[in-house]
Amino acid sequence: MSTITKVTKAVFPVAGLGTRFLPATKSVAKELLPIVDKPLIQYAVEEAVAAGIDTMIFITGRSKNAIIDHFDKAYELETELENKNKTELLALLRSIVPPNVSFVFIRQPEPLGLGHAVACAKPVIGDEPFAVILADDLVEDATRGCMAQMVKLYDEQHCSILAVERVNPADTGSYGIVRTGESSGTHAPIELIVEKPKPEVAPSNLAVIGRYILTPAIFDKLATTERGAGGEIQLTDAIADLLKDQQVLAFEFEGTRYDCGSKLGFLIANVEHGLLHKELKDDFLVYLKNLMQKLS
Ligand code: G1P
Repeated sequence: MSTITKVTKAVFPVAGLGTRFLPATKSVAKELLPIVDKPLIQYAVEEAVAAGIDTMIFITGRSKNAIIDHFDKAYELETELENKNKTELLALLRSIVPPNVSFVFIRQPEPLGLGHAVACAKPVIGDEPFAVILADDLVEDATRGCMAQMVKLYDEQHCSILAVERVNPADTGSYGIVRTGESSGTHAPIELIVEKPKPEVAPSNLAVIGRYILTPAIFDKLATTERGAGGEIQLTDAIADLLKDQQVLAFEFEGTRYDCGSKLGFLIANVEHGLLHKELKDDFLVYLKNLMQKLS
């Protein structure tokens, strides 16, 4: 049993090929696609920092080096902005890598699935609880962020926690789906978890979104997890195994999730963030209103 109880590390599986966004993702990592002017992966890292996490572990694959560059110091660019006295842009650039935050990059040799990606982090995590953040689920709330809410719950409950939300019953085949026991307000113990069940066999419409806090016991489970849905080593299957030994909670977070792994979700996120963007929001709103008039 782990003696370290604070969540200080987050795993970002970023080795996926992003085929749903081809041709955009032929040579650009899907995690670098921007919502207005900020890449998805940066939103994810900022959410982890807001939760008090200080070690960001990226599980990368071939042709994902631009993600590493994004979180590295850009000397030439900084010098150029300094010379031109563009202080605001310089500050923006420097804020991408927050102070006291370390980045670790691990290569996933083969894309064998989310469970396999998480297992690749074991040598860096050791015997500690840790977060997993999937950058294509962009989750926002007005104050703390989804992971900060989960870390707070972890500090009280000391067990694995999965963020969940209700989805259209027709869409269960895109998610890990849980059945829960009696709820204590925002959270409930998970009784059953299944990866991507068809609607007719799904145990509910409560879907796991891309935010997890896991105890290190998950690594022993992952070591024996066989290929499941889609022929991949699924994190969901390892969690199903973990449930036999430990409590795992489903947590209904506060905030909005944008499914940026789908084209429609990505477009919606861009429109809504455009309407919040301090330089763009007024002009963008005028444009949208005019467009709606033309269309109606
Ligand atoms: C993964 C998980 C799934 C989870 C989903 C959330 O699926 O395997 O259980 O519900 O993330 O986004 P993916 O979307 O990578 O296929």
